[in-house]
Amino acid sequence: MKTINSRRDFLRQVSAAAFAAGAAPSLLSWALPVARNQSLGFPDLDVPGLDIPGEDGMIVRSFRFVDLETPVEYFNTWLTPVPHFFVRNHMHEPSELSAEDWRLTVGGEVERPLTLTLSELLKLKTHSVVNTLECAGNGRSLHRPQVPGVQWGKGAVSTARFSGPRLRDILQRAAVKSSGKHVMFRGLDEVPGKVPPFIRSIPIEKAFDSDTLVATHMNGAPLTKHHGFPARALVPGWIGAASCKWLTEIKVLESEFVGNFMSPGYRFPDQPVKPGDAVKPEDTHPLTELNVKSVISGPLNGASLKSGKVSVHGAAWAGEADIVKVEVSTDGGANWNRATLGHDQSHYAWRLWTYEWKAKGGDYSILSRATDSRGRTQPDTPAWNPSGYLYNAPDQVKIHVA
Ligand code: MTE
Repeated sequence: MKTINSRRDFLRQVSAAAFAAGAAPSLLSWALPVARNQSLGFPDLDVPGLDIPGEDGMIVRSFRFVDLETPVEYFNTWLTPVPHFFVRNHMHEPSELSAEDWRLTVGGEVERPLTLTLSELLKLKTHSVVNTLECAGNGRSLHRPQVPGVQWGKGAVSTARFSGPRLRDILQRAAVKSSGKHVMFRGLDEVPGKVPPFIRSIPIEKAFDSDTLVATHMNGAPLTKHHGFPARALVPGWIGAASCKWLTEIKVLESEFVGNFMSPGYRFPDQPVKPGDAVKPEDTHPLTELNVKSVISGPLNGASLKSGKVSVHGAAWAGEADIVKVEVSTDGGANWNRATLGHDQSHYAWRLWTYEWKAKGGDYSILSRATDSRGRTQPDTPAWNPSGYLYNAPDQVKIHVA
């Protein structure tokens, strides 16, 4: 069976060859003949992308670094199998990573700086959290006007059971001083040229949350390299960027870390913005938790179905809040019907949902809309912002019933 690693090896070779020859566009046309989500006349929320033939069928959003999107039809299990879990890399993954040589240092505003080997880390008490990880840029390609950045469709989101020691247990060992207000993570990414390193920080309160982890495992197996082997931060309910992969340094700071991935990266306008307007950096704040959101995993956009019983299904999540309701419209948003929520649930994890619909012949626009425990409902119009973060309008597919 082909594994995602072998396909990524293929990708790496293909991408190296393409860039050496300066021929990425022409290479795409011969190596990737399959267009995913081809529009069947309903382009609204249809996201074109490229797909490599193969068992895992992930959508490649960037060749330069590995950026793989999960096709929505895979959102039919509560836990996403690791080979189908989206991948977001800002730069090259570390090429040399040995479990023996790896070290995690903890320093900054602490009484007892420490260094842990992997075997020492693995001896600490572990805790598990089922978390829906979503990239802040998920859905960026759906914002209008469009904005630059990786053109994610709907699938830069996945759910897994992450396990590892609590970050607070490690911080307590190091004895954080009262001056420590933020916790910085540094990854071992290989930084190309002048690109700034992947370093971000989270406030001390979230670092001490009992569900914030230094995760070593995902769905019961050691982290794969693409997801941060041997250890990553896991900051549940927050944008994926908070969960630093290939973690090598934890530093307690007096104030928020200053660097590219804190500013100008991953910031949101303080006030609503007119689509297309520029925003001054001082009028923005760092992104933290995720929005309320839902995605339809079936039927797929452009599907042609037989009349009769149709199960409309998908997933819905709400960052640090819980999903309380998912509604489905089969008439373009005029009327809404309550979907049944799946029985699997955990505080930071998505809920699967289903709506059984008796479909008669015709063309339909099907929408899904979620509401959370704080009363937030997906807005008809997403909050446009210059970086295209946190898209969360109701999802939509258009289908034909014969
Ligand atoms: N950590 C490091 N070191 N380097 C990265 O590029 N990407 C972040 C985060 N952690 C990133 C990182 C972003 S933007 C996201 S959305 C998540 O990892 C994606 O995690 P995944 O690739 O395991 O799905």
